[in-house]
Amino acid sequence: DGRNVITLQRVPSTNEYLKDELSKSTPLREGTVIMAVEQYAGRGQQGTAWQSEPGKNLTFSLLLMPSFLDPKHQFRLTVAISVALAQWLESLLQTPVTIKWPNDMYVGDRKIGGILIENILQGKIWKSAVVGIGINVNQTEFSPAIGAHTASVKQILHTDCDLTELMTDLCRYVERSYQGLKNGTYDAQLAFYTQHLYRLGELHPFLVDGVRVNGVLSGVTETGRLQVDFNHHTVDFDIKEIAFVI
Ligand code: BTN
Repeated sequence: DGRNVITLQRVPSTNEYLKDELSKSTPLREGTVIMAVEQYAGRGQQGTAWQSEPGKNLTFSLLLMPSFLDPKHQFRLTVAISVALAQWLESLLQTPVTIKWPNDMYVGDRKIGGILIENILQGKIWKSAVVGIGINVNQTEFSPAIGAHTASVKQILHTDCDLTELMTDLCRYVERSYQGLKNGTYDAQLAFYTQHLYRLGELHPFLVDGVRVNGVLSGVTETGRLQVDFNHHTVDFDIKEIAFVI
């Protein structure tokens, strides 16, 4: 809810920091947010790095305790957070935002933000989730390796944004979506998520086991696997099994 935001000047990764704090004895409140001005070893999905120029962007981790969800429904949290981010970005940017499966935020063919959720389970109970969010805000120069496929709020709005104000607004969207998930609006969230999938319904090249194949992205399964149609024959994939060819 944005009331419990701790800002740190310099950390390797806010996700790591929050997980470390969780392993200590002092209990943390659900909704605690760890924000970094500078994150020098930020992490992305699948072992990638998340680079962010100090002081320019939103890099934070939010502590949630989704014990109301069965761990087999972990994907629902991904959906709720992705939907919150996409809706917030669309209202801020006044332009369509898509969700590149499973949870990257895209404007056109450029990535503007990403999510890294790390779950902490205790037996069959889902104890907590460390929800790491990175949004490119005021940064306008990116390393050549990613520059052509990266966007920031400033590149779109042509103005600097106040990070604290954005954060307050973003937290409202996340809070609303999370409460929605608690109150059973998951079906509507999944519908929004599916409709906003990057490349939905388009014939697109994918890499499957290192082989390039054309397929039509048609949706996701209940557990979050990507569904792709090949000549009207649907196959579903795990994140490690398929990649978009850009
Ligand atoms: C991705 O796009 O692959 C996910 C990027 C997630 C980046 C955020 S920034 C705050 C938090 N701390 C991290 O180390 N990563 C996440």
